[in-house]
Amino acid sequence: MRVLIAVFSLFIAVHAYDAVLFSNQREIAGVSVEQLVSSATAEEPIVFIVNPDFTLGQFSVRANAYSAEPATDYLAKSVKNSNFHESQYFPSQVEATSAQVITSADQYKAGSAVYVLAGEEWVSMEQLAEQIISKIDNSVGIITATDAVSHDKNRVKRVATDEMDDAGTGGSTGLTASTGSNENLLGPYALPLVLPPYNKTDSIKPSDAQSCLFYLEGVTVVVQQKNDKVLTYSNAYVPGNNLTYKYLDGADALCVNTTVGEYIFRLRLTLTTDVVGKHQNTEAFTLNNGDSIDLTLNITGDVFGYWSLKGATLHSAKITGKGTNKGASVSEQKVGPAAVQYAGINSVQGWSLVCGQTQAIFFPTSDDNIKIGIALVNTQIQTFNVRNPDKWRAAAHFTLQTEDCTGTFSPGSWMGIVSALVLIGGLLFGYVMLQSVQTMDRFDDPKQKQIVINVRE
Ligand SMILES: *[C@@H]1O[C@H](CO)[C@@H](O)[C@H](O)[C@H]1NC(C)=O
Ligand SMILES: *[C@@H]1O[C@H](CO)[C@@H](O)[C@H](O)[C@H]1NC(C)=O
Ligand SMILES: *[C@@H]1O[C@H](CO)[C@@H](O)[C@H](O)[C@H]1NC(C)=O
Ligand SMILES: *[C@@H]1O[C@H](CO)[C@@H](O)[C@H](O)[C@H]1NC(C)=O
Repeated sequence: MRVLIAVFSLFIAVHAYDAVLFSNQREIAGVSVEQLVSSATAEEPIVFIVNPDFTLGQFSVRANAYSAEPATDYLAKSVKNSNFHESQYFPSQVEATSAQVITSADQYKAGSAVYVLAGEEWVSMEQLAEQIISKIDNSVGIITATDAVSHDKNRVKRVATDEMDDAGTGGSTGLTASTGSNENLLGPYALPLVLPPYNKTDSIKPSDAQSCLFYLEGVTVVVQQKNDKVLTYSNAYVPGNNLTYKYLDGADALCVNTTVGEYIFRLRLTLTTDVVGKHQNTEAFTLNNGDSIDLTLNITGDVFGYWSLKGATLHSAKITGKGTNKGASVSEQKVGPAAVQYAGINSVQGWSLVCGQTQAIFFPTSDDNIKIGIALVNTQIQTFNVRNPDKWRAAAHFTLQTEDCTGTFSPGSWMGIVSALVLIGGLLFGYVMLQSVQTMDRFDDPKQKQIVINVRE
């Protein structure tokens, strides 16, 4: 399913130019291709590695992104093993007029600021790169399409027609690091929660830099309790009506404006009423009016175009025990990839994930026998390439490509399909058996005396 979506999303991405950037020595995160080219020098050169058909899809195939076997391709391996790598889109051609264009290994001369290693297709490009790139020190490699780099001033600039190309001077980015003080908290706002909270306050408007969007209608708090080695689970659904949220501008929705990197969402929820959690039909715990459920999600996008939840921090949450159940609290608990891998929060760049209810993410608490889990209810998450068609009216949109976390076949439908197949199998077996019933060739043994029936009149 995800592979399919990745393949489809590649068709959508070809309006702009794809590029894979990699370097061993230089940090390149967040630096655009144009900036890299304009600041290139002979000491810190840029090496374009191009072929006419390059797309991220071609790269993913070469990198064996969809199979478990490691890549054998030289370029794909170099990217994977490099210290810094990321992928970028850029909407229009990069000017590199003084570049040294190399189509065979003997044309290489040291001392240029920008090199273009131009192959006919992937294989010749890869061979050229293998022969030359090790000779160029301290470089940044950029694998992209031949068309994406113009080394002839007179060529007509080709402009992509994607929405990414929106002639945007989106104003201040709101991404500057914050001091972290809580005085500037905006809100409280009523749910559904939207991060960034567009249309809640005039100060927060969609901009080109804010490429992600997060939506949430409620949470379920799940409490795992260990009694004599038996795990029991109780849970409380907290609807949006019983919650409010706050927002710290510049800290609570931090997204890199590209496909590789971190997307951080912080949900600062506060309860506005007591909510009771139950184990089967007995009350097990309460969440109290005024308590907070303060959760940060750390979503990370990789160079192959997937994004997934890689970590989470529960800044604060508290349950009060009922009856024989004990209470517990959590403060600043961080969990890593192993704890969140089954939450099912992952998709493909450019797509949004829609989920009726995610799996809970569990955090250790003050009590060793109790874990508190948070599940997101009716949520939609997109990390990259949110649409801002009418940005001046404070409306950011999820893209139309969405992936549902439930998948096409639920366990229930699989049960139906499998039992139907078994029944059809039985029916076919019976039918074939009936088909093969024939009358016998002879009713009696020829060697025996014929049966004579005398009829006397
Ligand atoms: C974010 O990315 C889009 C599309 O690549 C681009 O148009 C926009 O200028 C970028 N914004 C910033 C602040 O880098
Ligand atoms: C809590 O949510 C329930 C269900 O939506 C609603 O009926 C109730 O009024 C809410 N309580 C408060 C105090 O808002
Ligand atoms: C997010 O997760 C990544 C990958 O596990 C990690 O390297 C990074 O430090 C985390 N960032 C934050 C802010 O926790
Ligand atoms: C913004 O909110 C107001 C009411 O709060 C609503 O009428 C309007 O449609 C909203 N605008 C957008 C673009 O969602």
